[in-house]
Amino acid sequence: MTADWLADTRTSYDTVAADYATIVRGIFGTDAYLRGVLRLFADLTAGGSDGGGPVLDAGCGPGHVTAHLAGLGVDAFGVDLSPGMIEVARRDHPGLRFEVGTMTALDLPAASLAGLLAWWSLVHVPDEALPSIMAEFRRVVRPGGVVLLGFHVGSGSRHKTEGYGGHPMDVHVYRRGIAELSGLLVSAGFTVETEIALQPLSERPGGIVIARS
Ligand SMILES: C[S@@+](CC[C@H](N)C(=O)[O-])C[C@H]1O[C@@H](n2cnc3c(N)ncnc32)[C@H](O)[C@@H]1O
Repeated sequence: MTADWLADTRTSYDTVAADYATIVRGIFGTDAYLRGVLRLFADLTAGGSDGGGPVLDAGCGPGHVTAHLAGLGVDAFGVDLSPGMIEVARRDHPGLRFEVGTMTALDLPAASLAGLLAWWSLVHVPDEALPSIMAEFRRVVRPGGVVLLGFHVGSGSRHKTEGYGGHPMDVHVYRRGIAELSGLLVSAGFTVETEIALQPLSERPGGIVIARS
């Protein structure tokens, strides 16, 4: 795995953006657990002494999570590596703010966010890039702010060469342990508050870690 992962991920999601948006549309209507996790995150980010503040959906894809959070009263905005995804997000959610950017170097001032969520957007990030991304999250989230990571649970990776309607892709998909992600957050200076195992006995288990800066 090389630094090309950024370019490969960008190109892959540009290719699938329109069909990806169609596939994920409405997901929160059918999954009470995901809705509940986002409700919890919304409550936590609104609960600061200064009454909330901007919340970044890092790797927002087509913006459906950003929009769901906005519907819960969160001042949410999205950043994604893929210009194609950002185009779809702006089209589908014209009242919200979306920017092209990378979580490896966010174009945001230090301590400017009340919260940051990475919702299955770290799944293509190689292991060696994770510590510096966690440090970047720590830089932009203000003291007392909340970080939520959602990810595939397990071990190892697979090379994904097509997806979302048969489009060509060139990404690696990583599965990780919940304790591994918590450990990375702790190493970056966060305090882990909650770990959640989603569908732990299924073929596609998920993990959520919520931590505070
Ligand atoms: C599996 S999709 C998840 C999208 C969305 N969060 C969701 O849950 O549907 C992964 C997303 O992460 C984005 N991504 C991957 N690496 C990124 C990076 N370094 N900076 C910003 N976005 C990134 C991809 O472009 C893609 O849109």
